[in-house]
Amino acid sequence: MNEKVTAKAPPNIALVKYWGKRNVWLNLPVADSVSVCLNDFHSTAVVCPNPTGEGDKLLWNDQPIPPPYLGRWLRMLEKVREGSGLRVPVIARVRTRLPSGVGLATSASGMAALALALHRFHGFENNQREVCALARLGSGSAVRSVPGGFVVWHSGESPDGSDNFAESIAPPSHWPELRVIIPIICRMGNRVPSTEGMIRTALTSRSFHAWVRYCNEMAPRAIDAIMNKSFSYLAEIAEGHAMSMHGLCLQARPPILYLREESISLLEAVIPLKQQLPLFFTFDAGPNPILFTLEPYVQSVRQAILSSFPEVEILVSRAGPGASIATND
Ligand code: PMV
Repeated sequence: MNEKVTAKAPPNIALVKYWGKRNVWLNLPVADSVSVCLNDFHSTAVVCPNPTGEGDKLLWNDQPIPPPYLGRWLRMLEKVREGSGLRVPVIARVRTRLPSGVGLATSASGMAALALALHRFHGFENNQREVCALARLGSGSAVRSVPGGFVVWHSGESPDGSDNFAESIAPPSHWPELRVIIPIICRMGNRVPSTEGMIRTALTSRSFHAWVRYCNEMAPRAIDAIMNKSFSYLAEIAEGHAMSMHGLCLQARPPILYLREESISLLEAVIPLKQQLPLFFTFDAGPNPILFTLEPYVQSVRQAILSSFPEVEILVSRAGPGASIATND
């Protein structure tokens, strides 16, 4: 056991989305997905013993963790304890940097940092697959925040998830000019949670089976586009895939609408730019667009955003490394 472990992990943005679970309890996806880790806005998790006799405690941005995350955290803890045989009450503190509840990858980075900190605290040495399996219990997409750079998450076929893991396909240095731009146009938090959205689309959206095939076809193409640094090919794949995910959500009964009026206004402001410079967009389970471009064009994209949303906060990042131990004392 370590006295205190601090780990950090980045948010990741999916280029081929994860939307659908083959096992809801284990968070096993129906298909492969592909993403990029961000260099900035990482979350940190600190795990240390809790000597107060109050049992285990998790604080998420200084607040007690809300359901459904409470149950997930307890399952992570149980799994790591089972493996190590160590049963010391712990305090875990997670701090995230991206705003929560707006459909950005906040829980992914927090859960990946927490998984790594718990794993190391319980005496395990670095083992990416084990950390992935732990992170997955917290949040599916957290698995892709464990390895760094450009990442594929293999869905696997095994019912117990033993062949489910994420791996890096290229380091951040592979595509140093790539930039991710996130304008926080909408902070509204009351959206359909991703698990509920995934279950509802699987049960009620007419094209769900075609969607699963489509994801598995697009994942290797996205990997090719990344390996060849083909921006236009990646743009076609990622934009089409994100819009299909939202189309699938609209087909659900009752329909799920993650995009808002502001999302459409923003798209109207930036879509014309696609004629002039490399640019594509994606959306996760929320109203904030996530834009991709190359470094020389960041300023032009910012200006287009600001022309429609003058006050908006704009986050910019390049590709970055995966989860790591920050200090270990
Ligand atoms: O890991 P979850 O349950 O937060 O699901 C995330 C799903 C999307 O962000 C919409 C897509 C993805 O692949 O990240």
